[in-house]
Amino acid sequence: MGETARINFRKMTPADVTLAAKLDRRCFTKHDAWDIEWFRIAATLPSFEFIVAELDGKLIGCAGYEIEDYCAEVQSLAIDPNYRKQGIGTLLFMKMILAAVDRGAEIFLLEVRPSNVAAIKLYKNFGFEVVDRLENFYGNEDALVMRWEV
Ligand SMILES: CC(C)(COP(=O)(O)OP(=O)(O)OC[C@H]1O[C@@H](n2cnc3c(N)ncnc32)[C@H](O)[C@@H]1OP(=O)(O)O)[C@@H](O)C(=O)NCCC(=O)NCCS
Repeated sequence: MGETARINFRKMTPADVTLAAKLDRRCFTKHDAWDIEWFRIAATLPSFEFIVAELDGKLIGCAGYEIEDYCAEVQSLAIDPNYRKQGIGTLLFMKMILAAVDRGAEIFLLEVRPSNVAAIKLYKNFGFEVVDRLENFYGNEDALVMRWEV
């Protein structure tokens, strides 16, 4: 059985917060990584939902959104660098989207750096389209706003 088939996708709980923040720091620059306090909030506030990917008890991925009415704003998507390019990011993002749709999401929005080729490819595969560009959003780079409607 392949590794991917053994991955457990489940909702993030407060017990995952430390490892999720650690993973985030490995996946993003200091500028872009979420502070651990944000993960605490995300794990407890009902408007947020984060899904984690676990392999043999190890947290290897994390993705989350915040929902308001029928609009879900994607907050994060991160896969451990040792497990990339195996379709795990796609699977995790799909689980996250299904969870959001289950809660009534009809529109998905996200921001991404134009230089983030991997993430943009993944989002486009899901049908996301660039609808706006926010100048200097990250301080050192613009952001592309991507949108997908169910
Ligand atoms: C973006 C990220 C989640 C992708 O995770 P992953 O598990 O490698 O993604 P997948 O294996 O499902 O690949 C998804 C698509 O992206 C492509 N891809 C993945 N890495 C790529 C890379 N470095 N360059 C170009 N394309 C890439 C894959 O080929 C695949 O497209 P395809 O199915 O049409 O071939 C991962 O690279 C990551 O964690 N990056 C750092 C955090 C980040 O930038 N998150 C997004 C913030 S907006």
